[in-house]
Amino acid sequence: MTHGAPKIPGIASPSPALTGRIRVPGDKSISHRALLCGLLADGETTIAGLLESEDIMATANAVRALGGHAERTEDGLWRVTGSGIGCLKTPEAPIDFGNAGTGVRLTLGAIAGHPVTARCDGDGSLRKRPMRRVLDPLTRMGARVDPEGANTLPFALTGTNGPIPITYELPVPSAQVKSAILICGLTSPGTVTVIEKEATRDHTERMLKAFGAAIEITEEAEQRRVISLAGQTRLTGQHVTVPGDPSSSAFSIVAAILVPGSDVTVENVLLNETRTGFLTTLWEMGADITVVNERLSGGEPVGDVHVRASALKGVEIPPERAPSMIDEYPVISVAAAFAEGRTVMHGLAELRVKESDRLAAVSDGLAANGVTHETGPDWLTIEGQGAVEGGGTVQTHLDHRIAMAFLVMGLVSKKPVSVDDAAIIATSYPEFVPDMTALGAKIGLRG
Ligand code: S3P
Repeated sequence: MTHGAPKIPGIASPSPALTGRIRVPGDKSISHRALLCGLLADGETTIAGLLESEDIMATANAVRALGGHAERTEDGLWRVTGSGIGCLKTPEAPIDFGNAGTGVRLTLGAIAGHPVTARCDGDGSLRKRPMRRVLDPLTRMGARVDPEGANTLPFALTGTNGPIPITYELPVPSAQVKSAILICGLTSPGTVTVIEKEATRDHTERMLKAFGAAIEITEEAEQRRVISLAGQTRLTGQHVTVPGDPSSSAFSIVAAILVPGSDVTVENVLLNETRTGFLTTLWEMGADITVVNERLSGGEPVGDVHVRASALKGVEIPPERAPSMIDEYPVISVAAAFAEGRTVMHGLAELRVKESDRLAAVSDGLAANGVTHETGPDWLTIEGQGAVEGGGTVQTHLDHRIAMAFLVMGLVSKKPVSVDDAAIIATSYPEFVPDMTALGAKIGLRG
């Protein structure tokens, strides 16, 4: 895991046109869910295209610690077997989730619905992230946390074999909180209902349904959804195909828009509309992006994204778009810095509690590279000038997306941009540097 792992500084330099085709690794959100559904299902689950990054390996370890098996076989597939819903075992040692916020929050849902006790911990970034948002509903369902009232890791969670069927309106738009409640609800003697005011990624609902859970979704208004799951159900092992991660694809897409003369295709990208707000924003900014070869893969829409270098203009990004592009604000901020005119982003409060305080980390990175901008509690404005000076060193604060976003900046700024730690990129996209270099990007690591 990433406890005190040695930092590897990285540097990106002005690059010639990026050209070629890449295939980004499997989607992180779907990969976590596939492993956990495999743990809770009867029979074997096979997974093609699982993301093999540090975050996902942390969840695979959690699956093993809770009594399941998760192994990669020679054919490249991952095979997961659990003992079915209701049959988790108490781990012998604390589970270390490293940097993985999704991994720990979803697994807490599984623990809370079983009569087991598990101690959970994480790296310096994960230990700072708020866990009350999942512990509140899970304790209402009957789980107990030690120490009582804990908001941050490490702590121990003791679950129950009959979680109380609650109706819960999410106070923050979080797919992780929604998913933890639904996963815990699998063993509940009644119906568990989650209400979201703003639609968040729906991979848990889709996957639980595919594994056989009785789950109903009512769209009450444009964004408001009511999701009900009938408990004491059984899941059956499935074959899952994991599409390419749109959040990882955003880095090569923005790089290809910004580096003059570029022409890049990113293949097999997940196009679920709860994830593609960044494409809508880039289109509004004037980016030359076309989606080709649209198809369904593993029940999710996917396509190949063809990008050509384009001049961008500043735009206003509405707050209601935030859940569908929450992880892409760092790299969209980089795009905005090279646009002509002001970009205004609203509704960014959740960025304060990601792998780092992303609003502060983006602001510091922009300042270090001479980009005029202003931030407030939940907003950011960037004065795009068509070009960026660069030359700064950006502190990544154990945040993979800050590292990748500012390396993209360095490919097109006047002077190279450095990041203090590129090793953290392995949490979500271990092949980032080789993929980008294959397209012609100049990125170096000082290991
Ligand atoms: C995720 C949900 C989002 C996102 C994270 C992955 C998921 O977090 O930022 O990278 O897989 O459910 P929140 O649920 O905290 O918004």
